[in-house]
Amino acid sequence: MAFRGRAKGERMRTRKGSEATAVSDVNDTNEGGPAILAENLTKIFGTGKAAKTALDGLHLSVARGTVHGVLGPNGAGKTTAVRILTTLLRPTGGRAEVAGHDVTVDPDRIRYRIGLLGQHAALDEQLSGRQNLELFGRLYHLGGSGAARRADELLDRFDLADTGKKAVSRYSGGMRRRLDLAASLILRPAILFLDEPTTGLDPRGRTEVWNAIRSLTGAGTTVLLTTQYLEEADQLADRISVIDGGRRVAEGTPDELKATVGADRIDVIVRDAARVDAAASAVGAAVGTPHTTTDPDRRLVSAPVTDRMAALTATVRGLADAGIDAEDIAVRRPTLDEVFLHVTDDRRKAAA
Ligand SMILES: Nc1ncnc2c1ncn2[C@@H]1O[C@H](COP(=O)(O)OP(=O)(O)OP(=O)(O)O)[C@@H](O)[C@H]1O
Ligand SMILES: [Mg+2]
Repeated sequence: MAFRGRAKGERMRTRKGSEATAVSDVNDTNEGGPAILAENLTKIFGTGKAAKTALDGLHLSVARGTVHGVLGPNGAGKTTAVRILTTLLRPTGGRAEVAGHDVTVDPDRIRYRIGLLGQHAALDEQLSGRQNLELFGRLYHLGGSGAARRADELLDRFDLADTGKKAVSRYSGGMRRRLDLAASLILRPAILFLDEPTTGLDPRGRTEVWNAIRSLTGAGTTVLLTTQYLEEADQLADRISVIDGGRRVAEGTPDELKATVGADRIDVIVRDAARVDAAASAVGAAVGTPHTTTDPDRRLVSAPVTDRMAALTATVRGLADAGIDAEDIAVRRPTLDEVFLHVTDDRRKAAA
């Protein structure tokens, strides 16, 4: 996605020096305020019977220099929110600010401070990675040598230097996405929007893109990342807003969200499938709960615990006393999957 709406006289200088220095240059308003703010944001597509509410009073606040995950299922309103915040779409109601500027009042001021990695890539397949980046650089008025220098820096940074001459049509999915990411960073944006950056990638490609995103955060860039993958939000985000039906249904750090589901759990995998029920009794007695669950196919016994260390010790002892062999014992936090099901279930129950 290319932004060309840079205001006159605001041409970006190319300069040597750290990314952090360059980024701080463009944080010129609302010092200390949030990088991204949405208040009661609504978006209704169409009218009358065909009207579709995509955003239904969304609140969002993203602190500068943080990675914020917006997590939601298909149709939750993630792309709609990103399009409004990147000034590609006008909201129906509410307000939003990016870098201290209102999205409907000052879209031009916002556009040259942000980068956008859309849900679908915007690269020229026939050109090489280097040529793609140089093309973007020239579109953004960096000039021939400035564009070449920036392309080199970015290829190097995203581990694409060796493949810079290869046509993009011969790139793997992970390489393409990294090149896309590099292209969205041509202007050293202070705020970067990533709309489902790893959808469709295999695990290796996903890890490559995750590492690339992590490298941005040290440089002071604010990142808003949408994803359907709980693990992705868990890996990358400082804070997460869970959205469903165009509203925020939960918000917090990954740990805070997991804590909302309640207790930690102890999982035991027994060696002998025939002993799963006996193990459930032993674990229940050891940790003092009637709420054990079993999954015989996985030879799994699971129980909620309050004191992690005491539960682990008592479980090891209880299983040994009952003569049951365990293949694996682990105390774990609830997963974000459990958080997600918990908050979206509550919402559906409340609506019913
Ligand atoms: N241009 C449009 N016209 C009508 N309805 C739309 C339009 N764009 C989005 N919608 C609807 O708004 C809702 C939110 O869509 P949006 O694309 O923001 O969801 P999303 O969270 O990005 O989903 P996904 O994970 O599938 O990308 C959906 O019900 C969608 O069908
Ligand atoms: Mg989307």
